[in-house]
Amino acid sequence: MANFPRAAIAGLGSGIPEKVLSNADLEKMLDTNDEWITQRTGIKERRIVSPGQSTVTLAVQAAKEAIAQAGITADDLDLIVCATITPEMPLPTTACVIQSELGVKGIPAFDVVAACSGYLYGLTVGSQFIMTGKYKRVLVIGVDVLSSMTDYEDRGTSILFGDGAGAAVLVATDDEDKGIIHTVLHAEGSGWNYIHVPAGGTRKVTSAETVANREHFIKMRGRDVYKFAVEKMQWLLGDCLEKCNLTVDDVDMVIPHQVNLRIITSATRKFNFPMEKVFVNIDKYGNTSAGSVPLAMSEAWREGAIGPGSTVILAAFGAGLTWAGAVIKL
Ligand code: COA
Repeated sequence: MANFPRAAIAGLGSGIPEKVLSNADLEKMLDTNDEWITQRTGIKERRIVSPGQSTVTLAVQAAKEAIAQAGITADDLDLIVCATITPEMPLPTTACVIQSELGVKGIPAFDVVAACSGYLYGLTVGSQFIMTGKYKRVLVIGVDVLSSMTDYEDRGTSILFGDGAGAAVLVATDDEDKGIIHTVLHAEGSGWNYIHVPAGGTRKVTSAETVANREHFIKMRGRDVYKFAVEKMQWLLGDCLEKCNLTVDDVDMVIPHQVNLRIITSATRKFNFPMEKVFVNIDKYGNTSAGSVPLAMSEAWREGAIGPGSTVILAAFGAGLTWAGAVIKL
C-alpha cells in the first residue's frame, strides 16, 4: 500500500550563467581538442559564471522560476533544501542566503552535501518531510559552480565541468497517480578519494602552500570513476524499474546525471531504453554536479519532452562515492 501524502512536483526551474566556455576556448588554454572532448564525453560547451555571479545567483534564478510555475509565492514555502558542494561561502549555509534573497523569514533552510547525487538526496529529504505530514510545500534546489574548484591546467577534469542550477517545488498530494513514488540513496565512503578536493577543510586548512600546490581544485581518478559510474547507473535503473514494477515501455523519460554521454548510453543500453527516452543536454552544459539532474528536468519540461502524466526515472552518482535514484509521476 502506498503511503499518503506523497510529494508531487508542482513547479520546476533552472538557472544558468550567460557566459559560454566552448571546446574551442579550452583548446586555447590546454593541450586538448574539440574532437577528443566530443568523442570521449559528448560535451561541446559549458556555462561559467562571470564576476559578480555565484552559487546563490543561479539558485535564486532556478527557485523563482519553480515557485512561479507552482503558482505559489515564496511566502507559501515551509522548507528550503539546497544541494551543493560549492557553497556561497563556508558559513552560513547557502540555503539561508537563498531564503534571504527570496525575501522569506523564519522557515527552516539547510544544505545537503552529496556531490552529483546531491539533488536526489535533497529531493528525498524534501519528500520525506512531506510524507510524514510535517510540511506541505518544500523548495529543493540543486546547484553548483564547479568552475570555482576546477583546475583549468588539468585537461583530465576541466573539460567536464560547468556551472548551473535547477529547482523543484514539492507539494503534498493524495493523488495516487502523482508524485515521487520511489527514492533510493547509497554511499560507499571507501571511495572518497576517487573524486576530492584535498585542501580547504580541517584535514588540510587553507594556506599559501595549499593554494600554490593547487590543492583547492578537484582531483579525479577518471577511469576508475568511469567504471563505477556505468555500474551504478545500470544498478539504479534496474532498481527503479523493479521496485516500481515498471517496464521500459512504462517509462516516458530517463533523466540521468549529465556526466558523460558514453556513461549515459552504456547504462541505458543495458535495458534497451531508446535514446529518445533518455534526456541529454550535456552537450550544452557539461557536468554541473548537483545542478545537473534538476537543470535537465526543467529543460525537459520546458521543451515538452516530459509533461503532466509522464513517468520519469532520475539517476545520479558522484563523489563520496554516492549514487541515488528516483521515480516520479508528473
Ligand atoms: N584531451 C586530449 N587528450 C586527453 C585529454 C583531453 N582533455 N584527457 C586525457 N587525454 C589523453 C590521455 O592522456 C590518454 O593519452 P595516452 O593514451 O597517450 O596516455 C588518452 O587521452 C586516454 O585517457 P583516459 O584518461 O584513458 O581517457 P578516457 O577515455 O578515460 O576519458 C574521461 C577520460 C575523464 C573523459 C573519462 O574517464 C570519464 O568521463 N570518467 C568519468 C569522470 C566523471 O564522470 N567524473 C564526474 C563524476 S560525477
